[in-house]
Amino acid sequence: MNDLLCLGIETSCDETAAAVLRQDGRLLGSVVASQIDLHEAFGGVVPEVAARRHLERIGPVVRETLAQGGVRSEDVGLVAVTRGPGLAGALMVGLSWAKAFAFARQLPLVGVNHVVAHAHAAYLEAEPRYPDLALVASGGHTDLLLLAGPTGVQVLGRSRDDAAGEAFDKVARSLGLGYPGGPAIESLARTGDPDRARLPRVGLFQGSLDFSFSGLKTAAQSLRRQGAAPEDIAAAFQAAVFDQLWERASLAQRQTGCRRLIFAGGVSANGYLRQRFADALRREGLSLLVPPLGHTTDNAAMIARLGLTMYEAGQRSPWDMGAEPVIHPFKP
Ligand code: KG4
Ligand code: ZN
Repeated sequence: MNDLLCLGIETSCDETAAAVLRQDGRLLGSVVASQIDLHEAFGGVVPEVAARRHLERIGPVVRETLAQGGVRSEDVGLVAVTRGPGLAGALMVGLSWAKAFAFARQLPLVGVNHVVAHAHAAYLEAEPRYPDLALVASGGHTDLLLLAGPTGVQVLGRSRDDAAGEAFDKVARSLGLGYPGGPAIESLARTGDPDRARLPRVGLFQGSLDFSFSGLKTAAQSLRRQGAAPEDIAAAFQAAVFDQLWERASLAQRQTGCRRLIFAGGVSANGYLRQRFADALRREGLSLLVPPLGHTTDNAAMIARLGLTMYEAGQRSPWDMGAEPVIHPFKP
């Protein structure tokens, strides 16, 4: 057994993605069609443009995914799809497509929370050890989650303003770098000195593990106006982002007693941050778990991973399930 095939569909932002994951954990196919070039000229994602492109790409992306895995559409036994959070129009394209595919074949359908799925991307190559502590830092969210079990999620902290990835993108823009800003800042920072252009640290909010990145972004932008070198700003910005993420994550670790930290979401592609987390955790006798590198930014393998887990826990979604642009992570 364990040969059920789950088709995952992801269209919450600017990547049209599909994946086929077998119940035994083997990833048979995973395709991500990025719209980055389409949105680059605007310096960010234009929702209407994204939805239209998803509509054009979803069919070919699924066909390519099935072909990659040597899977026929009639072999699929379960459909998992992102229901939120994300852009309403973009989500609706994936949801409608997934529902039609599943309904036509009378397959079970599972709607998946995108942020929680980012954390579960770590389980593509490692076994869960519930309760697991996860820090998801992406373009839309910065959330500290306690994964209590296959479906139970507790939110320990979240950003009160910009997400970490959003701050990377905005600082990159003010430095004249392209979109997305994360990879551009990371490579520029390699030649910079984090101590030549100091940035303020964001203190803890009382009784809370919440984050805030908007002040840091503004401070980085004003350093630019004061004439600091772009590479020094990039290096100082990354160092300040790490300090804030680590302060909250290590407090959460002490509160929960978890022995490892999952660092996931698009920002976890950052090699500098990964290294700093790995070093800091090792000093405490703890370990770092990150998703496989191709599965840190948006993808459908993580949607299939969480969808299968939810299905195994008995969850099914109704045919009238709607898109949830601002869904909270504790909602499955
Ligand atoms: O998870 P993701 O693909 O989409 C959302 O759910 O938002 O994350 C995209 C975000 C963007 O803000 C992008 O700048 C950031 O992840 N990102 C990075 C890196 N690669 C992508 N941030 C820092 N360093 C990177 N190497
Ligand atoms: Zn994402």
